[in-house]
Amino acid sequence: MPKKIKVLSSEDGYNLAADLYDENEKYLNSFEQGELIPLLAGIAGKKVLDVGAGTGRLSVALANRDAQVTALDVSPKMLEKIKRKNAKIQTVVGDAESLPFKNETFEIVSAAFLIVHLKDPTRFFDEVYRVLKDGGIFVVTNINQKDPPLVKTKEGQIIIESFYHRPEKIKEILESLAFNIEEEVFVKEKDLWVDQIVLARK
Ligand SMILES: C[S@@+](CC[C@H](N)C(=O)[O-])C[C@H]1O[C@@H](n2cnc3c(N)ncnc32)[C@H](O)[C@@H]1O
Repeated sequence: MPKKIKVLSSEDGYNLAADLYDENEKYLNSFEQGELIPLLAGIAGKKVLDVGAGTGRLSVALANRDAQVTALDVSPKMLEKIKRKNAKIQTVVGDAESLPFKNETFEIVSAAFLIVHLKDPTRFFDEVYRVLKDGGIFVVTNINQKDPPLVKTKEGQIIIESFYHRPEKIKEILESLAFNIEEEVFVKEKDLWVDQIVLARK
């Protein structure tokens, strides 16, 4: 009889997936098609918080552009990989919905492929607003994923708890929290959007 696929929390799921996660880098990049980094031009010297940083796909790119990057993730196993890639990145195990930082600490907050794992991103967005300095920017991506994919781990395939978010809803929440939306990019494949990227300013 085929085994039932386990549905795991982000912490448990990504701890299991960490060793094989980087094999998927091309797949993840294909959702962004190079559109994310140019939105963060001029980050050299800036204090950046990358939330849901994973194994550092985005954190490392930002650190290589001389930003002072703090990478936060709920999965310690994912974060362990970052240190080997760039020792200057500060890693913090923590929850996006309760960020362990003082008010107005960062000039930039980024979150790539994170909110797909939050049932309602409102608390996270509110936390981002709190830790951003006045005039700071928040760049968030929202993948168009209605069914969670199977994730490969050394112990077999799993599903990590995921949620679909309508693009209009993302903007509505950000605006309700007093963010100003400055840019919205839809990465498309054929006629279908695959990723919404929003740049919002405090
Ligand atoms: C799809 S991965 C994206 C990783 C990285 N940002 C990238 O673009 O490759 C999602 C990451 O979000 C983390 N995550 C999920 N829920 C979280 C939460 N509530 N707080 C912090 N990190 C979380 C997971 O552990 C995982 O590393």
